[in-house]
Amino acid sequence: MPGHYSGRFWPRGLKTALPDLDVTELPLTDDLNHPAGPARQAMRLAADAFGAGITRFITSGSTTALHILLAATLGRGDCLLLPRCSHQAVLHAVALLDLEPCWLQPAELPDSASRFSLLPQILADTVDSALRENPRCRAVLVTSPDYYGGCPDLVAIAKAVHRHGAILLVDEAHGAHLGFAPDMLPPSAMAAGADACVQSGHKTLPVLTPGSYLQISQTALAQGSIDAANLERMIPVFQTSSPSFPVAATLDYARAWLVAEGRRQICYQLDRLDELAIHLGPDIFCSPRSMRPAPNYPGLRDPLRLIITGAQEQAALPAVALADEMAAGGLDVEFADLTRLVLIPSLRQPAAAWRQLARRLRSALSDMPAAARDSAAADRRLVLEKTWRHYLTAIPEMAVRPGQVLFQPQQLQSVPLAQAAGQISARAVLPYPPGIPLIWPGERFDQPRVDFLRQMLENKISINGIDQARVWIIA
Ligand SMILES: Cc1ncc(COP(=O)(O)O)c(C=O)c1O
Repeated sequence: MPGHYSGRFWPRGLKTALPDLDVTELPLTDDLNHPAGPARQAMRLAADAFGAGITRFITSGSTTALHILLAATLGRGDCLLLPRCSHQAVLHAVALLDLEPCWLQPAELPDSASRFSLLPQILADTVDSALRENPRCRAVLVTSPDYYGGCPDLVAIAKAVHRHGAILLVDEAHGAHLGFAPDMLPPSAMAAGADACVQSGHKTLPVLTPGSYLQISQTALAQGSIDAANLERMIPVFQTSSPSFPVAATLDYARAWLVAEGRRQICYQLDRLDELAIHLGPDIFCSPRSMRPAPNYPGLRDPLRLIITGAQEQAALPAVALADEMAAGGLDVEFADLTRLVLIPSLRQPAAAWRQLARRLRSALSDMPAAARDSAAADRRLVLEKTWRHYLTAIPEMAVRPGQVLFQPQQLQSVPLAQAAGQISARAVLPYPPGIPLIWPGERFDQPRVDFLRQMLENKISINGIDQARVWIIA
């Protein structure tokens, strides 16, 4: 994982101690699900460092943390306001709790921002009017940053949500580092006024997979809009009764490291990003250091999330082929969409590794067969990407609620994707990464979506929920 850079990030003492830290709940070690002693102390230190009222260490990832958070703040059948571009972990929480999803329509990104991202963003005005139209929704959940580093204007969104007496929950899986260099990075959820958030430590920090921080704000606790007792009640419902002490120890270590060195290292990393832009050469373009993707645009982006794309906007980078070429040369990238590579450089990546990255990118691009760089193929990818953007936000007919499809006995059938139009999907269908479902369980396939999914497969985009060109439907 880039976060701990194959363990090189940790001091030798921690690295060698990991097997010894794999203990069970004893009076000396405390209980991560019911922290009362040293674990509680470590979580208190984390809450202080992250600017939260309560932090809990969840050692089975932000997936579990999101399930706990939604169960602690909403009741079965409640309405949740959320953008369509939410991670599958949110979908599964919606299904588990049989919530009613109520969609927030995002705004289109300005061209200068869409160059570095596939995903649209939510505006505060949209949240405001959605809450006015749906007063039953007492909670709003947004993702910030998204996989591409895109962040909505959380400060304005938090104000809009609170004006309506609702709570703002943030999937900050990609942003555990944000609070430690506030002048150089977009505001963290806690700093922006959100009521709660989850952060995957293993994505950007030296934390073992799957370590997550679940944070509740001081204000939400003081005002009683989130009940701490409810949170404590839900942790053992969703988290194993054997949570991992090694993972928790690295969550504790990452907190200490961020406090001591985070800001300096973030500064160093931003300087390396500037250098990378110079070393990449004329054919490749990398996301800039600037936080604001376009003048007057209210959203921000995390400059530490590195996006590589073609130098010419119209000459779409053959990203999947480039990622394959890089992997063949021993350098794996986080993921490739149709026109960009997304990389998560370790906060400890040494200068030599940055130079090597620039060299590899240049040589992978020049080694690629001419067919991969063909301009007609580039045009086709741009058209397909436009369709992908459309289906990321277009809402199919929901014939059956996701909770009903996943948890009530159903007669299921596997059919070729080509014959799925008109059928109700029994599974989420999602390109992975970024893990954002295009079809939720219970939604109906239509012919244009089927055609689009087939084109995505032809372009080697891996899609969960489609197996050997077949999908599961309700018979
Ligand atoms: C936006 C987002 N939320 C939540 C998750 C789930 O996080 P975890 O892997 O820690 O369970 C991911 C994972 O990729 C993600 O990208």
